Amino acid sequence: MDSKCLFVISFAKTKIKFALLLFICITNPIFVLKQNFTLFASYRRLKQSDIIIESDYNSMSRTAVKMFISELKAVLQKKDKAVVMLPTGGTYLSKGGFYQILTTEYRNAIDWSRVIFFNLDEYIGVSPKDKRSYNYQLMEAVLEPLGVPLENIHLFDGSILNVKEECAKREQWIKKLGGIDITLLGIGRNGHIGFNEPGSLRNSGTRVVDLSLETKYQNMEYFKDLGGGDLLSGIDSVPDQAITVGIATILSSREIFLLASGQSKAEAVKNMLNEENPLLNPASFLIINSPGVCFIFDDDAFSLFHESQLQGGPF
Ligand code: GLP
Repeated sequence: MDSKCLFVISFAKTKIKFALLLFICITNPIFVLKQNFTLFASYRRLKQSDIIIESDYNSMSRTAVKMFISELKAVLQKKDKAVVMLPTGGTYLSKGGFYQILTTEYRNAIDWSRVIFFNLDEYIGVSPKDKRSYNYQLMEAVLEPLGVPLENIHLFDGSILNVKEECAKREQWIKKLGGIDITLLGIGRNGHIGFNEPGSLRNSGTRVVDLSLETKYQNMEYFKDLGGGDLLSGIDSVPDQAITVGIATILSSREIFLLASGQSKAEAVKNMLNEENPLLNPASFLIINSPGVCFIFDDDAFSLFHESQLQGGPF
């Protein structure tokens, strides 16, 4: 059995889907176990309350920060330390966006020494001292302005030689801390989350991945703009590989927020909400398998999906 079968199933009607799933479970239980229940796409029903739509980028970011802070306060009422996983990318870093609002308006809302931070991903071969690294960008835009103690910060080092060890270390740390409380996510134009590109499996952990041409193209602008123009421009300046936490790592978070803004994300958002097969559109895993996800979009990112579909249609 290969992924073509999954593709067919994801487009089948619910009852037929169920019958097919049953048949596959009986005839090929090992395959089902390996997929870690990816096949059970129709079990999770998206509720309207999972989706918040704001008119523009700034209001989307503002709403997201408010919800994040309130969730973080709730976690800190129950636990001594909260564990948070952060993304990079324009969705969070642009002017008037999540990180700017968080660091300017909510710096004193939380005792940041009680929050442990991880990040989602990093380019391989780019050192934390390099402005193009996600490590550098998170330190500069979020963690330093919030005054987070260094011992609370666990970001990938893209320049490390033993990358496998770096990946294993991350999973061990998360386990040791009792899991992730809140993960913040963006979404790539091809539906990637973190750097989990299409083809990523439900049970994938932290690992090295090859970046698709589409993703390199999407991220090219950051390599051109940063560093004052003395860097190589064009797609060749974007590294071929990255470290990313896995789909399983992300889905194990107790709460997930995914933000998407702009027309360029509309297709990926539509595919995700329509439960396009997660092997083609990794963000669909969030609909299918995750217990707690809140999606916050602006009008443009949501524009290709019709709200009426939340009541019927594929849901
Ligand atoms: C990038 C990063 C992700 C990010 C996503 C969206 O490639 N690997 O962590 O969330 O894709 O990026 P952006 O917000 O720049 O559109």
